[in-house]
Amino acid sequence: MSSTLREAADACGLLFGSACSPDCIANEVAYRETLAREFNCLVADNCMKFDAVQPERGRFDFADADAVVAFARQHRMKMRGHTLVWHNALPDWVRKGEFSKAEALEILREHIFTVLRHFNGTAYCWDVVNEALGEEGGWREKSPWYRWIGPDYLPQVFRWAHEADPDIQLFYNDYGMELPGVKSDTCYALLRDLLADGVPIHGVGFQYHLGVENRLDREACLANLHRFHELGLDIHFTELDISIKRPITDALRQEQADEYANRLGIALASHAVSAVLLWGFTDRHTWIPEFTKGEYDEPLLFDAEYRPKLAYGAVLETLQQCGN
Ligand code: XIL
Repeated sequence: MSSTLREAADACGLLFGSACSPDCIANEVAYRETLAREFNCLVADNCMKFDAVQPERGRFDFADADAVVAFARQHRMKMRGHTLVWHNALPDWVRKGEFSKAEALEILREHIFTVLRHFNGTAYCWDVVNEALGEEGGWREKSPWYRWIGPDYLPQVFRWAHEADPDIQLFYNDYGMELPGVKSDTCYALLRDLLADGVPIHGVGFQYHLGVENRLDREACLANLHRFHELGLDIHFTELDISIKRPITDALRQEQADEYANRLGIALASHAVSAVLLWGFTDRHTWIPEFTKGEYDEPLLFDAEYRPKLAYGAVLETLQQCGN
């Protein structure tokens, strides 16, 4: 019987990964040992984003990203690339700038070509576009890319990404589409139409950042995944975490474990999900308390001292059942 998540995931042919930070890899032994032992796949939490790799116009800095790539290679882990086109994590020169449609397109073109040619396939897939849709369906109209370019930016950036590296898989990634509903329906229609137009999109990423109070209905999630898969798209759960609202009790930690098993069970039962990545693995380093202004915490599989939690046991057991 496999004794780590990594062995269990390998046995059932699933890519099972985590977001990670180059600083933690460099500075904490327990961090890098746990990461290499438990996961067969990695994504960088921030250091491949626009502001990290192109802090000034035309000046690219890949030092942190290259450190993550080197770690992944050393430990024979696959990498997801995250992310090329997003409304967040933009450097000041983009965020505070005003650009014509032609200028904005040229900025994206140069960014995409430079980044993808630099990594040259070391990440086997990329989130080309992240969170382009609004929470109520429709476009995220406040995105600067949408304001400057309009909806055409989306097919255009996928075409450029494909031209820059025809061998990697190109993903659209977003949150709030786990269940059928207005956002998921909008995304489905958008991807269906783009694929019909021959736009090179190979997969869709479902972030799965949802608190423990969101017990996801298995059949509804499966039906939703199924329709995307029927379009010919690969599916990844890209940023799974299950945060707990304070005050945190052992009963809530048990519910979190159950919900981890539920969500992973959905991925495995769908036969459409080829990769599941957590947005971090230790409660020592998670974006949740800051993002929720302290309302939620403890979303991951290991506690702040790198001890496996109930959620870890539930995930391991779910993976082991699949491999049998
Ligand atoms: C988050 C990082 O984890 C934080 O460190 C950062 O401050 C903000 O971004 N959706 C995404 C991820 O696609 O890139 C985000 O990551 C979390 C939400």
